[in-house]
Amino acid sequence: LIAFFQPKPLKGKRVLITAGPTFEAIDPVRGITNLSSGKMGFAIARAAVEAGAEVHLIAGPCELPTPLLSSGKITRTNVTSAKVMHAAAIQSSDCDIFFAVAAVADWGIAKPSKEKIKRQGGKIPALDFVANPDILLDIASTVKTKAGKPHPYCVGFAAESSALAEHAAEKRKRKGIPMIVGNIGPDTFGSDFNQLLVIDAAGSKTLNKADKLQLARQLVQLVAKKI
Ligand code: CTP
Ligand code: CA
Repeated sequence: LIAFFQPKPLKGKRVLITAGPTFEAIDPVRGITNLSSGKMGFAIARAAVEAGAEVHLIAGPCELPTPLLSSGKITRTNVTSAKVMHAAAIQSSDCDIFFAVAAVADWGIAKPSKEKIKRQGGKIPALDFVANPDILLDIASTVKTKAGKPHPYCVGFAAESSALAEHAAEKRKRKGIPMIVGNIGPDTFGSDFNQLLVIDAAGSKTLNKADKLQLARQLVQLVAKKI
């Protein structure tokens, strides 16, 4: 019901969202992932549909149901590795707004084994890593939209273990994006609640502790004003 009464500032806009963790395979039964639950990205997907947008949600492995599926305004692509998430996002990057909410693995396994790696009589296997592509950086720097704008309005996320404001501001500049959102800790991963630090060219603003859907709605309204 609340969705019905939300203002619709994103009517006619296309929104791309990456959410959740990625999974980097080591062998057919093992891999490396992270603690992202997907809840914040899925909440933003819901808030964007409520705001009138057409949403493409690209989700790493998480058990969450697709929000507002019956609206017909949301499509979901499930992916595993960062490489596959990157390919799906680039393919769908002709959009108005990109929320990069996924916790993307910075490195993948260089040569995942096709067979399960067995115990080797006490010998410990070594893993070689390769750098994964940076989805946000690539979309912010290279993608051109058909509407003639240089690229979608890109919103990055940052979760840090210290110096959130400094790290987030540095990331905003390094990635060449207009807005970055810091998760104010300590326990945002998996929680239904969060507190956000929103940084753009005009300065920074705290969105006080609330459940992730309320924060997502506030963030979507803020972004809608920028485009
Ligand atoms: N991101 C991405 N693709 C990657 C890595 C990160 O799209 N391969 C996006 C995340 O979704 C997030 C933003 O970039 O919106 C910042 O991610 P983060 O991991 O905090 O930044 P990094 O540049 O990877 O820096 P570091 O991990 O060293 O802090
Ligand atoms: Ca990273």
